Amino acid sequence: MPLRILCLGDIVGRPGRQVVHQRLPGLIRQHQVDLVIANAENIAGGSGITANLFHKIRAYGVDVVTLGDHVYKKADILPTLQASERIVRPANLSSNAAGRTFTVVTTNSGVPVAVFCLLGRIFMNLPSDDPFAAADRVLSQVPKNVRVCVCDIHAEASSEKVAMGHWLDGRCSLIFGTHTHIPTADAKVLPGGSAFISDLGMCGPYDSVLGRRKDRVVKYMTTNMPQPFDVATGDVRLCGALAEIDPDTGKALSIQRIEVQGESSDQAYDADDAKGNSYAAG
Ligand SMILES: [Fe+2]
Ligand SMILES: [Fe+2]
Repeated sequence: MPLRILCLGDIVGRPGRQVVHQRLPGLIRQHQVDLVIANAENIAGGSGITANLFHKIRAYGVDVVTLGDHVYKKADILPTLQASERIVRPANLSSNAAGRTFTVVTTNSGVPVAVFCLLGRIFMNLPSDDPFAAADRVLSQVPKNVRVCVCDIHAEASSEKVAMGHWLDGRCSLIFGTHTHIPTADAKVLPGGSAFISDLGMCGPYDSVLGRRKDRVVKYMTTNMPQPFDVATGDVRLCGALAEIDPDTGKALSIQRIEVQGESSDQAYDADDAKGNSYAAG
């Protein structure tokens, strides 16, 4: 039986949380999903994650959470990053940064799966180490009995994500890109047997600019005057990809994009967004 891994793109704010809550359980049943991995760097008010929201999306069906450049925006998550095996920070930050660089979780069918994430360096604000060397470091630490390995490459430049796919081809079962919040049409199995897509797109409001209110972002870009980039609400979708993996070899058999519509709501925030202190705005 192939292992079915569903990965979800950046969950953005309340609209992203709602669509995951509404649609994920049905997708898990429909596709007989063994493991759900979600990038949740934007889940709290559009930037960062709190312990409360980590536990909520775990209850919705997310097995492992990956993060990105907003990893430390809410300090509230720090104890969870240290304690939980179900959340990873980018592996190419300082060795003193809070959180683990990879995790190994076991599916209900008994298959161990390693999960890690990396930050790109091109057009990214958060300084980080060489993600290619960091990937090698992580893979050298993954126990040899773990055949299935998944990498989230959280990066702005398609070139860097595609290059990472080729760097890890045959060494990871699935490499998916996040951060740009726009789904790409390049899902495929690479020659070495790794499933790859350069961006999953977000779980969030698509009538927006990358999840933020379009009027605010357009005004900022046309006036240079700072605007509050509030989370948008329209055209909410869940976007991700479903990969089938041979659990014995770790090679990918297939990958397909997943995109489903959510229910509409005008509410961009709720009480969960306010919980958790921030290190920085944005
Ligand atoms: Fe990001
Ligand atoms: Fe993001």
